[in-house]
Amino acid sequence: MDNYRRDFPIFEHTHYINSCSYGALSHQAEAAYSEYLNCRHTKGTDWMYWCQIHDDVRDRFATLVGAKADNVAVTTSASASLSSLISALDFSGARKGVVTTEQAFPTEAQNWHAQTSRGATVKHVRETRRGQLDLDHLRALVDEHTLVVAVPLVCYRHGALNDIAAICKIAHDAGALMLVDGYQGLGGVPFDVHELDVDFLIGGALKYLLSSAGVGFLYVRESLIKDLYPLQTGWFAQADIHAMKIHGNEPAPNARRFEQGTPSVPALYAAKAGLDYLLNVGVDNIRAHVQGLNRALKDGVTGLGGTLTCDLDDAAQGPMVAVRSSDDHALVAALEADKIVTSCRDGNLRVSAHFYNDMSDINAVLAALDNNKALLA
Ligand SMILES: Cc1ncc(COP(=O)(O)O)c(C=O)c1O
Repeated sequence: MDNYRRDFPIFEHTHYINSCSYGALSHQAEAAYSEYLNCRHTKGTDWMYWCQIHDDVRDRFATLVGAKADNVAVTTSASASLSSLISALDFSGARKGVVTTEQAFPTEAQNWHAQTSRGATVKHVRETRRGQLDLDHLRALVDEHTLVVAVPLVCYRHGALNDIAAICKIAHDAGALMLVDGYQGLGGVPFDVHELDVDFLIGGALKYLLSSAGVGFLYVRESLIKDLYPLQTGWFAQADIHAMKIHGNEPAPNARRFEQGTPSVPALYAAKAGLDYLLNVGVDNIRAHVQGLNRALKDGVTGLGGTLTCDLDDAAQGPMVAVRSSDDHALVAALEADKIVTSCRDGNLRVSAHFYNDMSDINAVLAALDNNKALLA
């Protein structure tokens, strides 16, 4: 993985280990942004090419998760993906229950709670002491009134990786649909929508996918698409974008119906470059490399007398490791003073390695934690 590091200039001066917040910027993504700006200077507009890039990004998201491109919408954020999908769900029938989790990223839970005005009821599955979702509690909450079960692949607060296959089975056995928020795992954890049997998957490009703010995606199981009619829509969602019809609404027959307006074109350039880079490295290789780094990090933290937020085997841990802190913001600032970039949530220092990290980053984090033991909890 050493050769890749050279493509990310930030490593010339900083231990960047914060991909759960934003992936490091590569020379390739930077060149892609420049290509967009050059295009603006030279041609002014190039809508044909920009629509092509939109589809290129769709192809790459599809490849990442083992889906068909036709079953993927390219959106502007994970929130946009979710709210477009939710606008097509019906909460007026016997199935109006949403089972989300205590691990939901705010945008996800907030979108579900917003549906209570449309008849939805919302329950939250708790997590076990070790950090994963509590499957017994999930079984108790899911019933014949449940419309959808929505869970994160990896918890954004502490990095626990949920057992998606088991959760899907519980949801489907009760006749409910299954949505996964993949944002904190995709790019670091292999994911195949068909193997795992999910109905919906949302994510975005800016974290482990090495891309840019302004690009998200939504996967929808093919057999469900034709019966979902998004109320949140726009001209890019139409069967024919160029038809310019104003006396009707004709959603695309594929997942493009969940798109809305003009795509975030500059961000798409970077997203294509980032996804190409990531797919070339390979998610299986990334997973193996990061698990090795995280093992060393976890051993080091416990050796220092620190506490890992989750007590999980390597296989049940996403790309991020969380360390308990008595003042997590102060700890992030202390590390930053040593040129180590991390982040925090909820009393946890979040250390999130990717393929471009190496033992020099882990050793730097451990040395800084040793110097700031008073901030460990
Ligand atoms: C798990 C998870 N879901 C959703 C989001 C929100 O994504 P967006 O800002 O693209 O809507 C984030 C952002 O950090 C996240 O970590």
